[in-house]
Amino acid sequence: MRAVVTGANRGIGLELVRQLHARGDTAEACAREPESADALQKLAGHRVTIHRLDVTEPASVRALAAALGDAAIDIVFNVAGVYGGAHQSLRQMAEDLALDDVARTFDVNATGALRVALALLPHVRRGSVKKLVHVTSGMGSITDNTSGGYYAYRMSKAALNMMSRSLAIDLRGEGIASYVINPGWVQTDMGGPSAPTPVTDSVCAILREVDGATLADSGEFLNWTGKRYAW
Ligand SMILES: NC(=O)c1ccc[n+]([C@@H]2O[C@H](COP(=O)([O-])OP(=O)(O)OC[C@H]3O[C@@H](n4cnc5c(N)ncnc54)[C@H](OP(=O)(O)O)[C@@H]3O)[C@@H](O)[C@H]2O)c1
Repeated sequence: MRAVVTGANRGIGLELVRQLHARGDTAEACAREPESADALQKLAGHRVTIHRLDVTEPASVRALAAALGDAAIDIVFNVAGVYGGAHQSLRQMAEDLALDDVARTFDVNATGALRVALALLPHVRRGSVKKLVHVTSGMGSITDNTSGGYYAYRMSKAALNMMSRSLAIDLRGEGIASYVINPGWVQTDMGGPSAPTPVTDSVCAILREVDGATLADSGEFLNWTGKRYAW
C-alpha cells in the first residue's frame, strides 16, 4: 500500500509515516521544510520518500503531483493543520477585525486539504484502496461546540468536514471514499503536554479505523475511539 502523508515532519503526520513504514507500507511523506525535518529524514530511504509541500501554495501542490508521476496512490492522508493563532476569542476578534488568522487557518486546514485531494485524484484513481482521509477535530463538530470561541480553528475544521462529505458523494461512483477522522486530544506540539493520548495510540487507532472503513462508510465522521463523531 502506498500512502501520501501531509504534515509529516512532526506530530501525527510523522507518527503515521513511522507506523506505515513499520507495517511494510510505502509512504510519500510531505513536509514544508524537508531540510530541517530531522526525525523524518531518519526514516527516509527504503519505502519512505520525502517531498517538499506547502499545502497553501498551488505550485507546491502541483509539484508534488508531478513528482509522483504515474504512481498509484492508495490513501491520501491530509494531516497538515494549524491551530489558528492566539486571538480566537470573541473579544479579541472584535478588537481586531483584520481576521488574517482566520483566512490563514482556512487556507491550511480546509482549502489546503482540498488542493491536495484534487491534485492527487489521478493518482488515487490508479490506486487499489482509493481512500481520502482528512484529519479533522472534535472542535469542527457543531454538536460538540458547547464552549464557543476558537473561531478560526472551529470554522476551518467544519469546512473540512463539509468538503469531505461532498468529495464522498461526488467520488462514490468511482469507488473512491472520503472520510474525516477525529484523532482525539493528542500529545503533539498542537495538542500540548496535557493531552491524554500518546501520538502512537492515536495513530494506531487512526490506521485501524481507516483500514476498517469501506465505501459504505464514505462521507462519515470517523473517530479514533471507533465510534462515529456527531456532526
Ligand atoms: N494534537 C491534537 O490534539 C489534535 C486534535 C484534533 C485534531 N488535530 C489535527 O491533527 C492534525 C495534525 O496535528 P498535530 O497535532 O500533529 O499538529 P502539529 O504537531 O502542530 O503538526 C502540524 C503539522 O502540519 C504542518 N503544516 C502546517 N502548515 C502547513 C502548510 N501550510 N503546509 C504543509 N504542512 C503544514 C506542520 O508543518 P511545519 O512543522 O512546517 O509547521 C506540521 O507538520 C492537524 O490537522 C490538527 O488540526 C490534532
